[in-house]
Amino acid sequence: MLLMDREESVATVREVRAAAAPKASGAIADSAETGRIAADTVGDITAKNPVFSVRRANVFYGDAQALFNINLDVGRNEVISLIGPSGCGKSTFIRCLNRMNDTIESARVTGDFRLDGQDIYARDMDVVMLRARVGMVFQKPNPFPKSIYENVAYGPRIHGLAANRSELDDIVYGSLERAGLVDEVKDRLDEPGTGLSGGQQQRLCIARTIAVNPEVILMDEPCSALDPIATARIEDLIDELSQKYAIAIVTHSMQQAARVSNRTAYFHLGRLVEVGPTDKIFTNPSHKLTEDYVTGRFG
Ligand SMILES: Nc1ncnc2c1ncn2[C@@H]1O[C@H](COP(=O)(O)OP(=O)(O)O)[C@@H](O)[C@H]1O
Ligand SMILES: [Mg+2]
Repeated sequence: MLLMDREESVATVREVRAAAAPKASGAIADSAETGRIAADTVGDITAKNPVFSVRRANVFYGDAQALFNINLDVGRNEVISLIGPSGCGKSTFIRCLNRMNDTIESARVTGDFRLDGQDIYARDMDVVMLRARVGMVFQKPNPFPKSIYENVAYGPRIHGLAANRSELDDIVYGSLERAGLVDEVKDRLDEPGTGLSGGQQQRLCIARTIAVNPEVILMDEPCSALDPIATARIEDLIDELSQKYAIAIVTHSMQQAARVSNRTAYFHLGRLVEVGPTDKIFTNPSHKLTEDYVTGRFG
């Protein structure tokens, strides 16, 4: 009798849980090639054709640990959104991918970060070259205090990508075109980049990034300082750029993540809780923490 009661109550609890969507914190799914990795991320952390493979990443600021054992691939031609509450480590994570954390004195990064199979923290890695291959667009547009032309020409020039002025002109024009800015600025290339509107400045920063032929573009909340129209322009641009580049974008807007990305990674308190196809993460997440966040119960 007692046993039956218990079974009934367990069944009831199960039904209630099922009705509220059953959430589990399952083991990490990893592919046979890379072997299983002990971690608590739910979902497939691998990408079929990875440009980036991150394994066992930990980041500390002084004694405080900001990221715990992160394993994640970024695929070629993939847009991956990184979402999660403020302070969960999204910026810290993408800064690892082009060694921007090197510029923070207290930061210490451990783990394995491979770009095309190459260890980006290797002693002989040329960090200037790395940051050309893995470009970054920040929250606040940050054009150099130079002309529109010089903003875009700067990178190709220091990397010796143009043999002469006419080749440089082509790179500048082509980059502005791909950034969807050329029509607005072609008659005033000598004017300061800082004189453009916020949305135009952000597209100028994107033009500057793509002028050096990156493989990956990192974007840290690139639209949070922009109005809805400028935001829509950037989102369209992300869509076009994804034909050619891998893009990892941090966003506070779940609508934006849903609109622009194929895959979404949910971070929480320095851990990568869940990763999966964007529509799954937003409509049928497997982890309770992800569900709470995407349904607005936490954030
Ligand atoms: N430069 C820094 N020095 C010390 N702690 C930092 C620094 N940057 C971030 N942190 C800490 O690391 C954690 C993750 O921060 P961050 O990566 O900025 O999160 P998010 O981008 O998700 O808001 C937070 O606890 C934050 O306070
Ligand atoms: Mg951040």
